[in-house]
Amino acid sequence: MNGNVQEAHQAMDRLHEMLEEQTRRLSDTVHSEAGQLLSAVLLRLDQLALELPSDCGDCFHEIRLMIEQIEEQLRDLSNELLPRMLDDLGLIPALECLVERTSRRTGADIRLNSSIADRLPAALEATLYRIVQEALTNIAKHARATQVEIHLWQDDRVHCAVRDDGIGFDSDRILQKKGERGLGLAGIRERVESQGGALAIRSLPGHGTEVLVSVPRRV
Ligand SMILES: Nc1ncnc2c1ncn2[C@@H]1O[C@H](COP(=O)(O)OP(=O)(O)OP(=O)(O)O)[C@@H](O)[C@H]1O
Ligand SMILES: [Mg+2]
Repeated sequence: MNGNVQEAHQAMDRLHEMLEEQTRRLSDTVHSEAGQLLSAVLLRLDQLALELPSDCGDCFHEIRLMIEQIEEQLRDLSNELLPRMLDDLGLIPALECLVERTSRRTGADIRLNSSIADRLPAALEATLYRIVQEALTNIAKHARATQVEIHLWQDDRVHCAVRDDGIGFDSDRILQKKGERGLGLAGIRERVESQGGALAIRSLPGHGTEVLVSVPRRV
């Protein structure tokens, strides 16, 4: 009898792991892959628009709007999927999984260092996860880094720093560009500021990048 109960527990654990993995993959695919594909489609469409006769303008505009709506729906879906995974695992184990996957994908040595032992409010955990996820996606896409460090700590605020030793970029110039597409850094800034926090990016071409975020603990 006891053996049966144990087997049932093990089967439930396996099922749970499978569901988590599937949710993770779905969230990744929706956010990173499908989202990026749609951004590329929009870019191509804009190039095409330059060659179109002017009487196609309305139709073109309509198509563009529809694609933007799909992009938004995918983002919402990805946001919905994510908190469930975080709820179950907690921020640090969820980040450990993310780090593991990203190191495997990029070959970079990524270290996660956290002095936060307790659970944080769910919205804050989701924000922090998203920040690290976007910073790591950027590192994989743009940085050509070999070493990455992620630090999390708290006082009256929760702080998160992601540093890489990659090619760096002119962050002042890029962050000044308003109204540009790209959910990335602009999206992070919006999300952080809406929770009363602040985002700083320190980067110079050739000298790596540091993304620094601090958010009040109470959200
Ligand atoms: N860690 C990094 N190393 C080098 N360059 C970076 C890094 N992070 C960002 N960048 C530069 O800053 C730009 C803006 O980043 P952002 O995340 O806002 O947009 P994106 O990654 O190009 O697009 P999206 O995030 O919307 O898919 C990037 O295109 C890249 O040039
Ligand atoms: Mg990005």
